[in-house]
Amino acid sequence: MGALGYIDGRTVDLKELVIAMEDRGYQFGDGVYEYTKVYNGKCFALKPHIDRLYRSLRELKIPAVFTFDEMADIHERLIAESGIQNGGIYLQITRGWAPRGHAFPDQVIPCLTMTIRPSNFKPEQWETGVGVISVQDERWLRCDIKSLNLLGNVLGKQKAKEAGCYEAIQIRDDKVTEGTSSNFFIVKDGVLWTFPVGNLILKGVTRTLVMEKILPEHDLSVLEKAFALDFARKADEAFLSGTTTEIMPVVTIDGRPVGDGKPGPITRKIQQSYQDMIAQECNLA
Ligand code: PDD
Repeated sequence: MGALGYIDGRTVDLKELVIAMEDRGYQFGDGVYEYTKVYNGKCFALKPHIDRLYRSLRELKIPAVFTFDEMADIHERLIAESGIQNGGIYLQITRGWAPRGHAFPDQVIPCLTMTIRPSNFKPEQWETGVGVISVQDERWLRCDIKSLNLLGNVLGKQKAKEAGCYEAIQIRDDKVTEGTSSNFFIVKDGVLWTFPVGNLILKGVTRTLVMEKILPEHDLSVLEKAFALDFARKADEAFLSGTTTEIMPVVTIDGRPVGDGKPGPITRKIQQSYQDMIAQECNLA
């Protein structure tokens, strides 16, 4: 019982995982991933995550050799065998193993690995809100693909950590794109703003749920429009969205308070609706 891995049709202790040394995921970051959270023994929003996985695979021309039902079964198996009721499941699909060479190998079988771990989040952060720093967006130009190439994200998050912050919001051409592992919203005069989908951000599952399900419930509207860091600094409220992050109030940007420096009322409403959605889908009391 506890953290567990999956490879080649079997569940394994994480320390036992053996990946071929020339797996292209390891050598080139040639693969994609997804992360789904588990509440009360159930995956939340698995379908949109797997749909996005298929899109990422298509964009990289990696054959999708697993059906949705197979994916769902493996998620359930990991939950059952690990005994983890509240945690998260990472899944990676690499192009597979082949002798090293940049171009796609002719015959190669994609490799699926998965891990499940219990949650280790500090719940008080959702109450108090968090600080973020701004960093240059140094990532490649296909941020819409949830690829294993995450060095830009890793370096940004490390800077945030060193600054004692939760997240780094990334700036490209003077505009705030997204966090390193989350999307970013601001609220100004009752209207939400977030960077438009395209090749420069990941179309977050949480972002879509907020925009398509939660905002209409509250009669709130969102502008999918690029905005500058200065504009974000003058926002009334700000928050991050993501599977791990859920809806996280942002109370400082680069050490300066957002609004009155406390989680704002619109952010709170969205946070509550997101919790309600999880509770409903995952049968929480
Ligand atoms: N990250 N933007 C980036 C760059 C991300 O890596 C993520 C998610 C998001 C939010 O997407 P979603 O709402 O679908 O989780 C936005 C995951 C959680 C991770 O890398 O661990």
